[in-house]
Amino acid sequence: QRMRNYRECRSDIDKLNTPFLEIYESLVPPEEEKAKQRHLIASLEKLVNSEWPGAQLYLYGSCANSFGVSKSDIDVCLAIEEPDINKKELIEKLAEIFEANNLENVKALTRARVPIVKLMDPESGISCDICVNNVLAVINTKLLRDYAQIDGRLRQLAFLVKHWAKSRGVNETYRGTLSSYAYVLMCIHFLQRRRPAILPCLQEMEPTYIVNVDDIQCAFFDKVENLRDFGAGNNESIAYLLWAFFDYWAHRHDYANSVISVRTGSIISKRAKDWTRRIGNDRHLICIEDPFETSHDLGRIVDKFTIKTLLEEFDRAADVMQYDPDPCVTLFEPY
Ligand code: CTP
Ligand code: MG
Repeated sequence: QRMRNYRECRSDIDKLNTPFLEIYESLVPPEEEKAKQRHLIASLEKLVNSEWPGAQLYLYGSCANSFGVSKSDIDVCLAIEEPDINKKELIEKLAEIFEANNLENVKALTRARVPIVKLMDPESGISCDICVNNVLAVINTKLLRDYAQIDGRLRQLAFLVKHWAKSRGVNETYRGTLSSYAYVLMCIHFLQRRRPAILPCLQEMEPTYIVNVDDIQCAFFDKVENLRDFGAGNNESIAYLLWAFFDYWAHRHDYANSVISVRTGSIISKRAKDWTRRIGNDRHLICIEDPFETSHDLGRIVDKFTIKTLLEEFDRAADVMQYDPDPCVTLFEPY
């Protein structure tokens, strides 16, 4: 199955373009939703400032990286400069403040890998997770947003892939499948490697944006308004790209030896990263390098059971794209 011969795409693929684009359009959040989010952030920031005057709130994740579907929860990062802060106490204090100001479902999750406080704003109905000083997440959010501005096909592809992953139950990190962040990186990497390329590799270009976070230097070219024509030499349609994406992950990716790397715009070897065997809980069965925390494999949560689920789903999706009479429906059927 894995080593199936290369196959050609169905000849009527471009007829699927309009229906797939319609699905994409239906997932894009309306402008008024963005306005509500900004409004909520501004009022939460006021509350936080009553206790910590210099602190700022940043949106990150799907509400800020342009890969968010309508009605998603929002991810917020509190940036606070305090020597020796105790994140756990800070999170608890935040929860108290929010609770006292009529926000609902307030919960401090202090034992998580990334401690957060959760809340729901009854006025807008928006739920959000607030973490503290997660600067890298704010920067990788910018990187994703910048990539999205280069070629519109990235956003279309990533929305469809995320929609597929959510429908098929393979976007659940707590159960050992991949995060949305990982899927977006898979899409970026895939478009970097089309020939002609649809996306450049921003981290390999002369940096125009440089930030140091602890001992990690984050540097990339961010004048993306100058790259609007980058993908113009490639006219592959969204339906064709979706077909090719699943074909790649079902039949062509070399799981035994390869790491996908948006940072370099290429494949690097598992051996070079010493990701060839299980270390602790990191199994490295599907390897996706974080663009900044390069020792971080976003596939590390995938285990020997969930890798099978993922491969079966990639296979199913590739088959649906290849043979199904109505892929726009079948692809997203609940599992
Ligand atoms: N993130 C990260 N490292 C991870 C997972 C997530 O830095 N291993 C950060 C990224 O900045 C990402 C954000 O957390 O954009 C939110 O992650 P996730 O919930 O996976 O993605 P969203 O884009 O918010 O997707 P969804 O629409 O499913 O909420
Ligand atoms: Mg999110």
